Amino acid sequence: MASDSYIALVERFPEHLSDAKSLGSDVKISGVDKIVFTGVGGSAIAGSLLQIYCSEKTQTVQFFVSRNYDVPSFVDKSTLVVAISYSGNTEETLSAVKAAMKRSARIVIVTSGGKLMQQAEQLKKPVVALPEGIQPRAALPYLFIPMLNVLHNSGFIPDPSSEVSSTITSLQAASTNYRERANSLAQKLVGKVPLIYASDRLAGVAYRWKTQFNENAKIHAFSHVFPELNHNELVGYTKLNANYYVIMLEDAADSRRIKERARLTKEIIGRKGVPSTQIVIKGEHFLTRLLSAVHIGDLTSVYLAKLTGVDPEPVTIIEDFKKQLGRVPFV
Ligand code: PA5
Repeated sequence: MASDSYIALVERFPEHLSDAKSLGSDVKISGVDKIVFTGVGGSAIAGSLLQIYCSEKTQTVQFFVSRNYDVPSFVDKSTLVVAISYSGNTEETLSAVKAAMKRSARIVIVTSGGKLMQQAEQLKKPVVALPEGIQPRAALPYLFIPMLNVLHNSGFIPDPSSEVSSTITSLQAASTNYRERANSLAQKLVGKVPLIYASDRLAGVAYRWKTQFNENAKIHAFSHVFPELNHNELVGYTKLNANYYVIMLEDAADSRRIKERARLTKEIIGRKGVPSTQIVIKGEHFLTRLLSAVHIGDLTSVYLAKLTGVDPEPVTIIEDFKKQLGRVPFV
């Protein structure tokens, strides 16, 4: 079945991390004090994860993520704008690159081809060229790991290479365990609306889970973060309007207060009859914990697709939407 080959591709995440290690090492940028990752969808997730990882590693540069046609108003000649679009044909990202050019920002392009690659060649901008033929969301290792090389070469973050190698080894060693856990969670999620909660610092990881349920399992799913969710979403358990299943992601380095909030929230929603699973992300390095949390979510979403008879790979509705929008003049 077509879906089996896509599931196998998702299962090979650690192998793809390893393949991606050699990319991006020829790109070096200097003279910037802030970094904006711009892109949308499966490509922008790489920016969110880079922001999480890099913000934990250094305070000397600031990292931002932008998912829009424009770039933030602070973008100037001391800003590096990293434009990430797997296909290279996404109108929002192409437009954001133009906006960054107008502000004289430094630009790095991450793409497998398309108009963005042509633009980079014409404008002589540095490119991280990705392998072709993968769904953008499944290309995450290639969108993420090479940028660590670029950011390290440019002096923004410490050398990530030993963390990357150790992460690959850990993920490979844990692969059977992760597949079993993801399968068991997927079985509990059949017919449910997943709600994914994490601490604010891991918002991008919870959001990745949400979007993978959307695109792979083709269902609605929502993510929210502690402490904010205790001030609004918690009230929604008073009058349940769908068949929810809560997934709580907890990182060892989350603060004690956040862990206490998660514990209490789990108790309250349990009393309201809503089932939940807590996933405690383990690993010596932050990178290992970050990527293992992503990998378990990815696996859960494709196993859920299989259990519900859905092909996780195509996203026909997104492609049709883009075609229809493409027929409307871009002014
Ligand atoms: O996962 C997907 O297919 C989408 O979310 C795409 O990533 C999104 O539409 C943007 O396309 P691209 O990643 O090619 O810029």
